[in-house]
Amino acid sequence: MTQQLLAAIGALPRPDLRTIFASDPGRLDRLTRIVGPLRFDWSKTHLTPEIMAAFGALAQAQDFTGKRDQLFSGAKINTTEGRAAEHSAERGEGAPDSVAAAKALHQRMRALIDVIEAEGFGPVRHILHVGIGGSALGPDLLMDALGRDAGRYDVAIVSNVDGCALEEAVKNFDPSATLLAVASKTFTTTETMLNAQSAIEWMTEGGVEDPYGKVIALTASPEKAIAWGVDETRILPFNEAVGGRYSLWSSIGFPAAIGLGWDGFESLLEGAAEMDRHFRLSAPEENVPLIAAFVDQFYARIMGCQTRAVFAYDERLRLLPSYLQQLEMESNGKSVKADGSPVDGPTAAITWGGVGTDAQHAVFQLLHQGTHMIPVEFLASIEPGHAFDPAHHRVLLTNCFAQGAALMRGRDNAADPARAYPGGRPSTTILLDDVTPHALGALIAFYEHRTFANAVLMGINPFDQFGVELGKEIAKSIETEGTSGFDPSTTALIELALGSAA
Ligand code: F6P
Repeated sequence: MTQQLLAAIGALPRPDLRTIFASDPGRLDRLTRIVGPLRFDWSKTHLTPEIMAAFGALAQAQDFTGKRDQLFSGAKINTTEGRAAEHSAERGEGAPDSVAAAKALHQRMRALIDVIEAEGFGPVRHILHVGIGGSALGPDLLMDALGRDAGRYDVAIVSNVDGCALEEAVKNFDPSATLLAVASKTFTTTETMLNAQSAIEWMTEGGVEDPYGKVIALTASPEKAIAWGVDETRILPFNEAVGGRYSLWSSIGFPAAIGLGWDGFESLLEGAAEMDRHFRLSAPEENVPLIAAFVDQFYARIMGCQTRAVFAYDERLRLLPSYLQQLEMESNGKSVKADGSPVDGPTAAITWGGVGTDAQHAVFQLLHQGTHMIPVEFLASIEPGHAFDPAHHRVLLTNCFAQGAALMRGRDNAADPARAYPGGRPSTTILLDDVTPHALGALIAFYEHRTFANAVLMGINPFDQFGVELGKEIAKSIETEGTSGFDPSTTALIELALGSAA
């Protein structure tokens, strides 16, 4: 059924983007949607009413509305792990019991923040947050985008197990004025536990008498945090049914909650809730995350595009591409469907990107003249984030819009092919009113739901990530068994760099 529907989409006429507006004057309005602070423009993609309708039929065949209802009702939609996916409940949109539980845990976080601010932990000027993957990327994105001038605390987020990362993070921190937040859903992740242990040692060496008294844990496994040495009163738990890469709304978002202030954190949650309501209640043809998934599916499965590029024309959003890499590739980089059968086509496009205008001077050559067709997503904010000459923002936005136009328009040059641009290359533009907690909340929730919508269209369970386990197991076995049983290449590398008794 899916294959037939995809074949039907593949057989539909595809407009030539170079002339598309001339033949379809209503196109811009038809392919623009506004949700709260975000404006989405798909008019420079190949979407036509016929392609949209055909994807609508695919969504129906894949029971999109049923699956969406299950997501918000707290049903065990993560079938391979037998649990729900309740990140929306953290924003107040989900099963009533889960919403109430999330609110209570947020209040617990708020109360602990009050204690920290009242110097109940002694003087705190620095927050050292250690976590990795979903326990770091979200807080890092939030703090980088919104926390630069919040000025309440110096917040450092350390993820890599490379000691250089920790060393760099604490180099200007005073150990006696540092609060250590250990962020790990499982509280077993090797990198995080090693970083946390080294941070404790750094505090001890810095003269802190009771370093564990300056530790808080952000986790869905409170018993493990207690066993590790964190006092029960300093644990901020969250719901096991909130996946790691969907967890910034829970206590994992602690750096943002304390760094931006509680109002800022609530505003982030409200922005996400606005997108939740849009996703939950809108008809498919109006539904922004679903339309974005149609575009993704069209380029990945019909046009054979292997990658998708995201360029934020806003320095505040420079970490968005890395955040999206985990969200999209860890969720949908699968080869089997939720029922275990093989997928019937390519799955998650490889997500990559950068920040404009920097990327124009580095990778855009390939986008304009290379042999790959890469759908590009541009993001920009109408309001600038600085007080310098408005010329900065004008030049930034001019460049952003010029790139989309150039990709689409191209330029013939039969006399000098090296200077010709094929054109006809698609892009989407997402305009934010401003980079505020509310807008960022809505934007991140949009990407979460888009990832889910893609998964539904492909029949994938986006909420497990078994693909990351094998490498972890092998790393452990190198620690415990050394080189035994490995191929000659791996054995030589271990012996050379770690010694034979690894
Ligand atoms: O290894 C992948 C992963 O499980 C991610 O899904 C997760 O975000 C990350 O590791 C960190 O896990 P934890 O929060 O349990 O330390």
